[in-house]
Amino acid sequence: MRIAKFTRLGFILAASGSAVGLGNIWKFPYITGEYGGGAFVFVYLITIAFIGITILIAEMLIGYLGEANSVTSFEKLAPKNKKVWKYAGFMAFTGLMILTFYSVVIGWIFNYIFKSFSLPSNIEMAESEFNIFLSTDITTQLAFHTIVFLIIISIVVKGIKAGIEKLNLYLMPILTFILIGIFLYSLNLDGFSKSLEFMFNFNFEKLNSQAILVAVGHAFFTISLGMAAIMTYSASIAKHTNIFRTSLVIVLVDTLIALIAGLALFAFLFEFGSEPSKGPGLVFISLPAIFSEFGIFGNILALSFFISLAFAGLTSAVSLLEPSVQYFIDRFKHSRLKATLLSGGIFYIIGIIALLANTKNFGGNLTFGSKNFFDWIDFITTAFLLPLGGILMAIFVGYIIQKDRVKSLLEPQMGSLIFNIWLFSLRYIVPIALSFVVLNELGVISLNF
Ligand code: TRP
Repeated sequence: MRIAKFTRLGFILAASGSAVGLGNIWKFPYITGEYGGGAFVFVYLITIAFIGITILIAEMLIGYLGEANSVTSFEKLAPKNKKVWKYAGFMAFTGLMILTFYSVVIGWIFNYIFKSFSLPSNIEMAESEFNIFLSTDITTQLAFHTIVFLIIISIVVKGIKAGIEKLNLYLMPILTFILIGIFLYSLNLDGFSKSLEFMFNFNFEKLNSQAILVAVGHAFFTISLGMAAIMTYSASIAKHTNIFRTSLVIVLVDTLIALIAGLALFAFLFEFGSEPSKGPGLVFISLPAIFSEFGIFGNILALSFFISLAFAGLTSAVSLLEPSVQYFIDRFKHSRLKATLLSGGIFYIIGIIALLANTKNFGGNLTFGSKNFFDWIDFITTAFLLPLGGILMAIFVGYIIQKDRVKSLLEPQMGSLIFNIWLFSLRYIVPIALSFVVLNELGVISLNF
């Protein structure tokens, strides 16, 4: 039994805070750019609706019924083979791995908050500033990674209510407010109609198998699925919460914020004739250069944009840490302080290695095969561990937990038609679709169309 529980609003804010992150504002726009716009957005929305919501409900259910850290929840709910199923709960540690590079990127954002008042005047300058920062400025990156680490642990150490719920209670409204402000401003730009066209012209010729797999992977990442973040939060949910309705709210908030951010960013981009596909550097390179065109107002735009991005990152980061903290508290009877320092220390140190992997001096030694250490962690977690976590949860809820328990809880909330569609999707569609993603990423099969 968890003692401190979220309030109903607190849970929705915390889960949405977990979902809305760098994935929405940094990654979604640039992969939309890379994979050609509208058709990609369309596939992404379909995946969110059919795969994302299905697993989100399953993940919330495990937490809600298990009322414990992920390892204990799997162990409790498995009718037999408890000793085997408990290992599925170790997906909690995927969060620490994601946090290693997530924290470094939030550090870059902090740096850009301070740089909002001296924006580079063109794309070339912006690009070289960003590259020099990444490849040579170890001290600044390390300082910000450390600050981010300190902020995250000081929140998580206060626990679910006084730490995580409170953080989200403040940051989520501010972040939404800023983004809507930037969005409304972008409506006045000539670039806005092009942005709308780019994101919603469903031109399927551009669509290929790679884009579909990326869309599935991102649907996972953006709703925080597959590593027990939402599961751990759901262990502290108020009883009688309507899981189905709550899951729809979370997905709606997450999707709206991604679309608003994408529309606004592309409007700025197109206003000055920039190309949409600038890759990961989109918000760090193209955007500062474009904001500089707006004079002092551009500085304010940049400042508020990077602050909202930092807020989005922090509310997600705490959700990446909490699952392993809960694990150490429950299973080893550590105090929250000790558990937080232990989990935090792990991601902090590995994060330093990830940070060094992008630098000129250390990059060579930290590159293995086609990718450096930073990119490997991103790849292994997003392309492999998260979908694997999703497959495990789908099988667990779809086949292993007693069906009566699942049905008696969810059917009254969903109605029997939707419940049956959900169960079908969980049992058949999700495991098959995710297996394709994993096998393709591992190079076992190669999808090409
Ligand atoms: N959803 C967040 C984003 O879009 C990242 C994130 C937070 C996450 N918690 C997670 C991703 C758990 C996967 C699993 O940036």
